[in-house]
Amino acid sequence: MMPAPSDGRSDNHRVGARQAAPGSNAAAASRGTAGRAPTTAANAPPLLDLRQLAATYVEGDAVLPVLDGVSFAVGEGEFVALIGPSGSGKSTLLDIVAGLLAPDAGEVWLDGRPVATPGRLGRSAYMRQRDLLLPWRTALDNAALALEAAGTSRRAARQAVRARLPEFGLAEFADAYPAQLSGGMRQRVAFLRTVLAGRALLLLDEPFGALDALTRAAMQDWLIDLLERERRTVLLVTHDVEEAVFLADRVVVLTPRPSRVAYVEPVPALRPRRRTIVTTPIFVAHKAAILGALGLLNGEGD
Ligand SMILES: Nc1ncnc2c1ncn2[C@@H]1O[C@H](COP(=O)(O)OP(=O)(O)OP(=O)(O)O)[C@@H](O)[C@H]1O
Ligand SMILES: [Mg+2]
Repeated sequence: MMPAPSDGRSDNHRVGARQAAPGSNAAAASRGTAGRAPTTAANAPPLLDLRQLAATYVEGDAVLPVLDGVSFAVGEGEFVALIGPSGSGKSTLLDIVAGLLAPDAGEVWLDGRPVATPGRLGRSAYMRQRDLLLPWRTALDNAALALEAAGTSRRAARQAVRARLPEFGLAEFADAYPAQLSGGMRQRVAFLRTVLAGRALLLLDEPFGALDALTRAAMQDWLIDLLERERRTVLLVTHDVEEAVFLADRVVVLTPRPSRVAYVEPVPALRPRRRTIVTTPIFVAHKAAILGALGLLNGEGD
């Protein structure tokens, strides 16, 4: 698999294409294994629909199949958490959805239409696993980047960022450079930049992974509040089963590489999410189901 070329052609260097032709029985049959997302209108298509995605990295003689027919959908306004073993291709999958990588096979549908790789660029707001702050820009100017890239003037972008710095616990650090910030603060600057991009679909790759437990819990609560104020559709990658159940409407579990969807756990009727739910029997049951799907309960009690 290669980074998406600018001319949209991505056929070279592909290995092991296992493409189900669009509309074929194989493609149709493979869909829906992850359950259908609730949508606002009865017949509205899901905002994001992944169909039989396959991806393989090739480096010299080394061939590494990563995704092997991943299908699931995310309805408008839905929050889906994606969880899977390290190296199962979660970041690769988000790169594909964001349009940074072309899959070897399969399709990404947005708003009911298949969208080729270059056309997906700019359709979602993507917070990558490693924050990519520019070391020569302050926290404020880093957070303003996405708005500036979208054509907002630097002055207006800075104003928009300043107004939201307190929410992110960054009010005092507007003028600090990334090297002067803690890992958690850098993560929050990247998060602010992503949220400010203003897109309906948020792709978040372990956005709280670098945070200590207390800051992490505070940021999760903050995200829930944000989503209650501003309706967004979220696909969030996490390693943390409790975080997945706490935040998501549905948790999609991947198998080890080359990955497929192993299991889907709907988490209905837990809204509004409040920290107190984590000790309730229903919450613990959701966690247990997911830990079981990840194979993490095997041998316990032996
Ligand atoms: N650009 C690349 N070239 C070659 N191999 C890669 C590349 N990017 C990722 N890989 C490999 O592909 C596999 C999947 O990587 P990916 O980062 O998508 O996994 P992940 O599920 O996000 O893992 P983690 O939970 O550790 O973040 C890994 O084995 C990784 O080493
Ligand atoms: Mg990753």
